[in-house]
Amino acid sequence: MQINIQEDYDAVCRIAAGRVAKTLYSKPNAVLGLATGSTPLGVYKELIRMHHDEGLDFSQVTTFNLDEYVGLTPNHKQSYSYFMWENLFKHINIPRQNIHIPSGTTDNYEAFCRWYEDCIKQRGGIDLQILGIGTDGHIAFNEPSSSLGSRTRIKTLARQTIEDNARFFDKPEDVPVFAITMGVGTILESRDIMLLASGANKAAAVAAAIEGPVTSMCTASALQLHRETLCILDRQAAGDLKMIEYYEWIQNKRPDAP
Ligand code: GLP
Repeated sequence: MQINIQEDYDAVCRIAAGRVAKTLYSKPNAVLGLATGSTPLGVYKELIRMHHDEGLDFSQVTTFNLDEYVGLTPNHKQSYSYFMWENLFKHINIPRQNIHIPSGTTDNYEAFCRWYEDCIKQRGGIDLQILGIGTDGHIAFNEPSSSLGSRTRIKTLARQTIEDNARFFDKPEDVPVFAITMGVGTILESRDIMLLASGANKAAAVAAAIEGPVTSMCTASALQLHRETLCILDRQAAGDLKMIEYYEWIQNKRPDAP
């Protein structure tokens, strides 16, 4: 894993957006894996700015989102579909038919999950996957004890995740209990992965993911098995890393450091 530590959240987002842009400049029809949550918001803002100010082109880009709450329609304000349209898609020139977000309201989840996996394969696989991390170490909605070989499927949310995400809903009881999510195995097939984290509340999960054992109890730790994962962290999220000096030393030594 490559660890990149930045002073603050804005710097994390600038580096991450720059990496997305670099991917699109070298492969204009790249397939991007996208995440929701507050962490990638600044990255999407920066990509929108680059689209308007620098002509960053999304006309050939395909996207696959990681997850969606079961039971929420795309126009529900807390659905991940709504989040993506409001915070990215409606501001850039991506063709609607190139956007894929798991359905929270399909009649047949099993068939839908198979279709989603096939669709990723048909589009040539994910070139660059953006990830956040839950306070329990989850990626997408792969909660502790998820199989590290899992594929897109329905997951029951952990109590911790429901509590964390309750801030977006009127009442904690409104947070859906189930979600449809790409699996850890699906995510690990992405060619490049960027894990983003900001804030002291992520420090324990980040340390477990980077320096802990590979375990289904912290599904982000499975990224240790991936060849091209870049973790971009602000100083607070990096606060519990034991080897922080080493990572910073490498970061300053590497001429190709982002
Ligand atoms: C949700 C999403 C994850 C996201 C996590 C952290 O659980 N399913 O993809 O990484 O929240 O969100 P935030 O960035 O808001 O802390």
